[in-house]
Amino acid sequence: TSLKAYNTFGIDVQAFEIIAVTSVADVQRIVKERDPSELFVIGGGSNMLLTKDIDKCVVHVNNKGYTLVDMPCGENKVLLKVAGGENWHDFVLYCIDHRYGGVENLSLIPGNVGTAPIQNIGAYGVELKDVFYECEAVSRADGTLRTFSLEECAFGYRDSIFKTQLKDQYIITSVTFRLTSKDHKIKTEYGAIYDTLSEQGITTPTIKDVSDAVIKIRQAKLPDPQKIGNSGSFFKNPVISQAVFSELRKKYPDVPYYPVGKDQIKVPAGWLIEQAGFKGKRFGDAGVHDKQALVLVNHGNATGSEIWELALRIQDEVKSKFGLTITPEVNVF
Ligand code: EPU
Repeated sequence: TSLKAYNTFGIDVQAFEIIAVTSVADVQRIVKERDPSELFVIGGGSNMLLTKDIDKCVVHVNNKGYTLVDMPCGENKVLLKVAGGENWHDFVLYCIDHRYGGVENLSLIPGNVGTAPIQNIGAYGVELKDVFYECEAVSRADGTLRTFSLEECAFGYRDSIFKTQLKDQYIITSVTFRLTSKDHKIKTEYGAIYDTLSEQGITTPTIKDVSDAVIKIRQAKLPDPQKIGNSGSFFKNPVISQAVFSELRKKYPDVPYYPVGKDQIKVPAGWLIEQAGFKGKRFGDAGVHDKQALVLVNHGNATGSEIWELALRIQDEVKSKFGLTITPEVNVF
């Protein structure tokens, strides 16, 4: 079976078999029946680059549903438990409809709710961890269902325990979010959101206004995976020390940057890639998006290996020009 429709890069590789699971019990049954090494788990398929056929059983997590958790969690707050197979942006729209604040800045991010914690998705000044309460996950080793608290997930920039110590060991089946039901404080510090709202003369934005602004910004910069295959940012923004940054800035006074904590600096990989001359470039069907150099694209029939070769080439050029190593944000198989 082709996996083309199951990954947003639109890479046409074959899988041995695809099984859609629609409940926690289904997930538990599958992991008990099969050896963990035989399984390959896919959610929204929005953060992966497949470079070869997968001779495993692909488990497509597709459980659905929203439950308001009846438990005190602070004034003006609600806990909403969402099934892992729900589409992320549908969840954001659900929150906006129900006037739950907290995820409006994370509008239009491709992928599913259950895979969002793995890399702690983030955009426009908000990260998943800011609204995360807990998640439930099935152990691939023995099928037990375990709850992970915020602390246990060890979230970092595009990082969590599910990418490190517990990589490939759990299948996340639901996420419970802590959302604001009243007097929500909107976050519009991120320049582009502020500018978009100002242009429209909106001074007291609602969560819907913020969501609409984010949608507008993303649509202008990021390719729609339905039209051009991609996985969003391909690389993480490198985080470097003050000392390394000072040297870089001597040579490149225009380098954009964001301070991280006390003495670290995040440099936009998109800028480095653009300066290295790759923005809008195309090599066969593998390319670099013309409006945001951090996004690699499949113009139609690129293979995963072609995209991976391009990524390595970009990585090399950035290394030799700036002395900085950029590492993939997407999972490469
Ligand atoms: N820039 C360039 N050229 C480019 C792209 C960016 O010079 O082609 C520079 C510009 O100076 C721009 C700066 O980079 O001001 C930052 O660009 P942008 O606001 O687009 O953000 P980013 O750092 O490139 C990150 C996330 C995105 C997220 C945006 C907005 C990572 C790896 N990416 O991108 O996340 O939407 O911030 O918050 O942290 C994703 O993870 O898939 C993703 C799209």
